[in-house]
Amino acid sequence: MRKEIQVKITYKKGIHTRVAAMIVQKCQDLMRKYQCKLFIKRDRDNSVIPGNSMLALVSMKIVEGETIHVFSDSDHTSEAVDEFSRFLGGAFLLEQCNLDEIDNIIQNNTLASEKVFDSIVNGLIVVDHNNVISVFNKAAERITGIGAKEALGKEANDIIDTSKLYEVLKTGREQIAFKQKIGNSTIVTNRTPIIADGKIIGAVATFQDISELENLSSELRSVQDLQQRFQHILENVDDAICMLDKHGTITYVNPAHERIMKIQQEEVVNKNIGEISPAGIRMQVLKEKTPQFGRIIRKGNGTEIIANVSPIIIDGEMNGVVSVSKEITEIKRLAEKIEELSAKTKYLQEELSKKHEINKSFDIIVGKSGVLLEALAVASKASETDATVLIRGESGTGKELVAKGIHYASNRKNKPFIRVNCSAIPHNLLESELFGYEKGAFTGAVKQKLGKFELADEGTIFLDEIGDMDKEMQAKLLRVLQERELERVGGTKTIPISVRVIAATNRNLEEMVEQGAFRNDLYYRLNVIPVMLPPLRQRKGDIPIIVEHFIEKICSKYGMQKKRIGKEVLSYMEAYGWPGNVRELENVIERILTLSREEIITVRDLPAYIGVDKEEKSFREIMFVNG
Ligand SMILES: Nc1ncnc2c1ncn2[C@@H]1O[C@H](COP(=O)(O)OP(=O)(O)OP(=O)(O)O)[C@@H](O)[C@H]1O
Ligand SMILES: [Mg+2]
Repeated sequence: MRKEIQVKITYKKGIHTRVAAMIVQKCQDLMRKYQCKLFIKRDRDNSVIPGNSMLALVSMKIVEGETIHVFSDSDHTSEAVDEFSRFLGGAFLLEQCNLDEIDNIIQNNTLASEKVFDSIVNGLIVVDHNNVISVFNKAAERITGIGAKEALGKEANDIIDTSKLYEVLKTGREQIAFKQKIGNSTIVTNRTPIIADGKIIGAVATFQDISELENLSSELRSVQDLQQRFQHILENVDDAICMLDKHGTITYVNPAHERIMKIQQEEVVNKNIGEISPAGIRMQVLKEKTPQFGRIIRKGNGTEIIANVSPIIIDGEMNGVVSVSKEITEIKRLAEKIEELSAKTKYLQEELSKKHEINKSFDIIVGKSGVLLEALAVASKASETDATVLIRGESGTGKELVAKGIHYASNRKNKPFIRVNCSAIPHNLLESELFGYEKGAFTGAVKQKLGKFELADEGTIFLDEIGDMDKEMQAKLLRVLQERELERVGGTKTIPISVRVIAATNRNLEEMVEQGAFRNDLYYRLNVIPVMLPPLRQRKGDIPIIVEHFIEKICSKYGMQKKRIGKEVLSYMEAYGWPGNVRELENVIERILTLSREEIITVRDLPAYIGVDKEEKSFREIMFVNG
């Protein structure tokens, strides 16, 4: 039977360091003597320690009056147990021991504690009640980068300014798992007070460097983030994506794959490609390890796709295959769209270039409406040639302005521009007006006179109101235009001329040709490049800028302060039909500006007939709306 003896500790101070050393010495002696091991069990919690462990004994903190048990590891050593229990229940008199041996035990134990402190991976700092460092282990040196020699004996905050051990000393409260920065490192620390006999006699900090861990976790976070992004991309692209592992097992297909291939994920994922498509490109790439680009495949279900299939090679090792495919019908649709868009772009560019191409000489003509710009683009193009131009348009639409524009845009611009108003000159005088006469050609022809054609030589002749020319004169003009030479009235010699002809009329020449009032052949000779000027009522959007243009022109002509025009006035103007076109508008503005004394022109300043149209219109609108 194994012997176990109960002992009551009677020593006043309990088992403190020196007594523990004495117990260890005694235990060692007995163990040697009886060739056994001796143990102490504490009654309080049944914890068992070897009787020769100083550290264990001290940390048991056995106090006076406490009961312990002593036993050995063998059944035949009851003397050893008896002797040891007697010693433990005694008075621990120093003379019973060998002092040198006790000192040795205490010394070795201290060294052992230091070794223990240094071998733990966590940093350990112990301070006394004055916050002065008494322990600073190797891990603390490594983590803080401060040597123990430097730290020991100094106040904790002089060494680590963020240390909070003084708080623990002050409050006696422990601080668990506090995160803190020391230099470049992040640490997690526990701080505990050391309490003896109810008094705070110091504090301990143990800490761990978690910088590495923090870096790793932030790396992990960014990898996770990246993975999520990729996942998101894969799920949302329009291309069908399929991935195989190195054994040919399909590991992933994205939603576009389901849509384009018309096959559900569950039907392919985890299946082997050898089973699903043994003769396909993915199988080929898996075997040959070379990529295949732009391969067009017609699927069984009629879809045509174009595929890029690549091996995934990591560190020179085949790791799988990825295929990216697009439905061609989609590409075809896009190609058609591109074609449509480029046709549109081309058209818009042409339209734009029409605007750009208008020569600066036409800047005197105000307006931005499409119909006007188109007419000006034709006129501008015509100015680059010597071709005859026929300008058509109602009275006051700017025919003369355009004729001048053509002349000044052409390379004849430094030569004369001669205007002949065919309707203002009596028929019998028009011939000599155009071709000139020799001295004595008729009564009153006292000296030779040059005609407009000769005056315009190398320049431009503008035959305004050509529709009013009589038929006899039309024939003569036709001859000059055909021959490019003329004879003065009463003269005999022919004179060659180089003149660019621009004609204009507000009359319906086609109707006149039909009725026999205008020569067909002359019409064709003149109508080489027709320019149609739109009436103002067809480009009402231009009215505000034309009005602004004339206000400026007229105010500066009369040296007046610039007047402003009310919005309502413009709406009246836009409602009016303008039979006299821009000329009429110009006259109206001139009249208002000269008659009105106010700074702002109001509807009251408008001539009465301009308002009538608008009121009639509103009246009609009201009637119409009311049925
Ligand atoms: N777009 C315009 N911008 C600025 N002024 C213009 C414009 N159109 C016409 N005008 C002005 O209107 C007036 C009439 O122009 P123009 O004499 O060129 O017209 P027209 O077509 O020849 O008329 P008509 O058939 O009555 O001879 C001129 O004072 C001219 O400066
Ligand atoms: Mg005119």
